[in-house]
Amino acid sequence: MTTWTPASWRTKPVQQVPDYPDAAKLAAVEARLKSYPPLVFAGEARNLTAALAEVSEGKAFLLQGGDCAESFAEFHPDNIRDTFRVLLQMAVVLTFGGSMPVVKVGRIAGQFAKPRSAPTETVDGVELPSYRGDIVNGPDFTADARVPDPERLQQAYLQSAATLNLLRAFAQGGYADLHNVHRWNLGFIDKSPAGEKYKALADRISETLGFMEACGITPDSTPQLRTTDFYTSHEALLLGYEQAMTRVDSTSGDWYDTSAHMLWIGDRTRQLDGAHIEFARGIRNPIGLKCGPSLKADDLLRLIDALNPQNQPGRLTLIGRFGADHAAEHWPKLIRSVAREGRNVVWSCDPMHGNTIKSSSGYKTRPVDRILKEVQTFFAVHRAEGTHPGGVHFEMTGRDVTECIGGAINVTDADLSSRYDTACDPRLNASQVLELGFLIAESLKDRAGAPRFQAAE
Ligand code: TRP
Ligand code: MN
Repeated sequence: MTTWTPASWRTKPVQQVPDYPDAAKLAAVEARLKSYPPLVFAGEARNLTAALAEVSEGKAFLLQGGDCAESFAEFHPDNIRDTFRVLLQMAVVLTFGGSMPVVKVGRIAGQFAKPRSAPTETVDGVELPSYRGDIVNGPDFTADARVPDPERLQQAYLQSAATLNLLRAFAQGGYADLHNVHRWNLGFIDKSPAGEKYKALADRISETLGFMEACGITPDSTPQLRTTDFYTSHEALLLGYEQAMTRVDSTSGDWYDTSAHMLWIGDRTRQLDGAHIEFARGIRNPIGLKCGPSLKADDLLRLIDALNPQNQPGRLTLIGRFGADHAAEHWPKLIRSVAREGRNVVWSCDPMHGNTIKSSSGYKTRPVDRILKEVQTFFAVHRAEGTHPGGVHFEMTGRDVTECIGGAINVTDADLSSRYDTACDPRLNASQVLELGFLIAESLKDRAGAPRFQAAE
């Protein structure tokens, strides 16, 4: 393979690139970003790799979630807090219910660029460039808004920095203290079945903390009770931005993309000889690879060779997104060839992107029962194969939106219009996501108690 540099992707065929009218202006903004402070540190990315290595061995579970696309318009501390606290709730449900450490990774503080199925969009006979996420252009259907604007790169950087700053404060500054477990229940889910279940679980945790405190295990003696490690991630789609954020780590001499702890490559941009794989192979951050129905087992092995030639545990997370009815068919082929070749990977399930439908009223939506089914299939397949179901990847919000149909507080087709706020794909709301958490906790519990049919290592 040829020598890698942060810019070597520019010599490869690239998908999903915006058509910037002013190349010089784009270059100037990228140069400016290159001089800005990193958002994350190499050591943090290494810690995440180590945590994911535990996941690959079945000793921890990966929880990755957040918005489909962050937006400039919805940039507000309450939204960041609400997303964070639903992730905490879910993490606590999984940690307690599954008796397993949970690696928490947000799709946040940088998730701005969106791949599109077509470069243009036509409405009432008017054709305009597609909306590619707030880091590229604006969502309004006007010629002005749809022109890619390089200044948006800087806005995305600044919003990511401020978001990450708040997340770090929440994770380390007391908000994530387990003694606050009751406070993470958002008002509107309080009365839902999942909210009730959460309250009962929070009672048990509070009681346990009281007991432990009486035994001398307090937040002072055991700071882990008070803080949590929270990591960020997004799709490495807009490579000019990612390149500008890529720096040499002075400790190791390795390259890290400092825009987030973890980056993933989408199902649309994972061509072996393409620019996105070229970029990802040279950065030392943990990498995710979305695997859709068109991915053949042989091609996956070649991608693994390119992305993780040293077979380092925790380096690569394979995120399957097949759809509830196809997961049982696709997973085993990939899992078996990876196992046969002895490759270390984290297996994760994205139950969102293969289950998008158009409702009869015309909204893009996802049925909660399909989402739950894909997750259940994921666990069932791993149980049958004797491999580890490592984690989940989902699109959610802490807000009370009506974007996915179904759930215990049933969102119907007629309800979709009332709070359909997403800038892109339909997201699970706080109560739907908590339901998913309890379901996964059950599967983890089953697994923990079950005899292990593992081949000798
Ligand atoms: N530090 C531990 C962890 O992150 C325990 C913990 C503290 C925790 N706050 C939490 C777990 C919030 C889940 C949610 O796992
Ligand atoms: Mn999406």
